[in-house]
Amino acid sequence: MGHQFFSFFTLTYTFSLLILFFEPSLCIDSGCDFFQGSWLYDDSYPLYNTSMCSFIEKEFDCLGNGRLDKLYLKYRWKPSGCELPKFSGQDFLRRFQGKKIMFVGDSLSLNQWQSLTCMLHAAAPQSNFTLNKIGNLSTFYIPDYNISLMLSRNAFLVDLVIEKNRKILKLDSIQNGDSWKGFDMLIFNTWHWWLHKGSRTPWDYIQQGDKLYRDMDRLTAFSLGLKTWSNWVDSNINPSKTKVFFQGISPTHYK
Ligand SMILES: *[C@@H]1O[C@H](CO)[C@@H](O)[C@H](O)[C@H]1NC(C)=O
Ligand SMILES: *[C@@H]1O[C@H](CO)[C@@H](O)[C@H](O)[C@H]1NC(C)=O
Ligand SMILES: *[C@@H]1O[C@H](CO)[C@@H](O)[C@H](O)[C@H]1NC(C)=O
Ligand SMILES: *[C@@H]1O[C@H](CO)[C@@H](O)[C@H](O)[C@H]1NC(C)=O
Repeated sequence: MGHQFFSFFTLTYTFSLLILFFEPSLCIDSGCDFFQGSWLYDDSYPLYNTSMCSFIEKEFDCLGNGRLDKLYLKYRWKPSGCELPKFSGQDFLRRFQGKKIMFVGDSLSLNQWQSLTCMLHAAAPQSNFTLNKIGNLSTFYIPDYNISLMLSRNAFLVDLVIEKNRKILKLDSIQNGDSWKGFDMLIFNTWHWWLHKGSRTPWDYIQQGDKLYRDMDRLTAFSLGLKTWSNWVDSNINPSKTKVFFQGISPTHYK
């Protein structure tokens, strides 16, 4: 169920994100609220065909997995107050030549990253690419354009470490951030793992300052973690060199 929602959501989301980056004047200077709008049927969609994207993870290939209806592929986001130009992979490749982009987050980030890599591959099928996965870091590289698109799987952004056989979520520690430096664009997300309870609780303890807690109010924990993250952004990112996005929430979607 979740993946169907995601494929639908992803194309338009990524598209919107990129447009916001390329053509900010269209959306911001004109006072258009980018987030108010609706999904419109668009027969020119989808922006890529999964059968042409050999590296797509099986879970994200709905048609390949036997889904019969196709209508969900054909929606684009239309802000009420403005028009968004259509995503052009060629244009993206040209503009992002020599750039490095990193997605950091959970499966929502994985989905966005994967859509973007498929969209760019569809736009330049003759260009070589490499795809490497080392631990939780995946890198899609297009040598012709010297563009790196990376994904760092990371459910909480703040550190989840194992100490003395205990999994500890450290609300005020973000050493993970050392690997987020030097990018032209960073796109973060975190949400639904903060809510998992019972046997699916992702930690044994939550640490705040010197104190260890078995559990705490999850929204409080989320808010403290995000504060640590936003402080990291404020002290480590030069906004004239690196664009930072934070993606909204995703619902739980695993069985
Ligand atoms: C994707 O490509 C395959 C093979 O060319 C084709 O059969 C299929 O209809 C295409 N799917 C969509 C949604 O365009
Ligand atoms: C590729 O881009 C990086 C910056 O992301 C730059 O340091 C490097 O020199 C470029 N390499 C080539 C071969 O252009
Ligand atoms: C693509 O990569 C292969 C293997 O690395 C190489 O032999 C080939 O020349 C490359 N093609 C292009 C168009 O760069
Ligand atoms: C990523 O993988 C490395 C090496 O396996 C591990 O040390 C690190 O904790 C992982 N980071 C996250 C955020 O899962």
